[in-house]
Amino acid sequence: MLNELRDIAARLALEAGALAAQGRRDQPIVADTKSTGTDMVTQFDRAAEAHIVGRLHELRPHDAIVGEEGAATVGTSGVGWLIDPIDGTTNFLYDLPGWAVSIAAVDHHGTAVGAVHVPSSGELFTAVRGEGAFLTTDRGTLRLRCSDGTNLATALVATGFGYAPERRVRQATRLARMIGDVRDIRRLGAASVDLCHVAAGRVDVYFEEGLGPWDLAAGELIAREAGCRSGDFRGGAARPDEILVAAPALFEAMAATILAADA
Ligand code: IPD
Repeated sequence: MLNELRDIAARLALEAGALAAQGRRDQPIVADTKSTGTDMVTQFDRAAEAHIVGRLHELRPHDAIVGEEGAATVGTSGVGWLIDPIDGTTNFLYDLPGWAVSIAAVDHHGTAVGAVHVPSSGELFTAVRGEGAFLTTDRGTLRLRCSDGTNLATALVATGFGYAPERRVRQATRLARMIGDVRDIRRLGAASVDLCHVAAGRVDVYFEEGLGPWDLAAGELIAREAGCRSGDFRGGAARPDEILVAAPALFEAMAATILAADA
């Protein structure tokens, strides 16, 4: 059952990624703003979400659906889908690599499956709860494993910034206070991809605040299934408002560093 949901998430992420990438090549972008003047949505975010929702209605007619661009379907099956049709819309808008389609299915035990597809690299990250995390490319499929880093001073740390100016200033102030405690900082522009990078050991840590549930659901499962530790900054469960995902031996030190920088 969960493998079937994983296959649907993966297939729809690939389809939506191809649709958005092709649209980006063929047509001029029409962009609109959402929560602030820099929080963008394009016609391709909406088209990708409409595609995924339409396919889910065919394949899983009794499931609930929530999408970043407004999809909201009530379900009766106990399974719900969280969709970010284009995570990293700013990258997409500027034709930078690293935007992704992120799709997760949740059930009464939490996130059950996740798929994150990055069209610019052709990568597809997937996980099924309890069964590990995997990366598929045209060279094959490999199991993901987070880094075995133990020293925060040599940890590569990814993060992101919200769209509201006051929040961004707070986040940047904190970063300025901690940048001397870590190897370096990366801001790549898509939370779901940052999470997959922790899963793949390409960065040691990722943290952020103020995400949408669709930004993190698939990537957080993929990171946990790759052996990462996930939580909020104070010992609770990871949530859209506050998420820290790290190589297990780095988690406590990173949480303490974030809190100290905020004090
Ligand atoms: C955003 C990206 C970004 C993160 C923001 C998210 P969107 O999602 O994931 O990396 O820093 O917090 O809102 O708006 O491009 O789907």
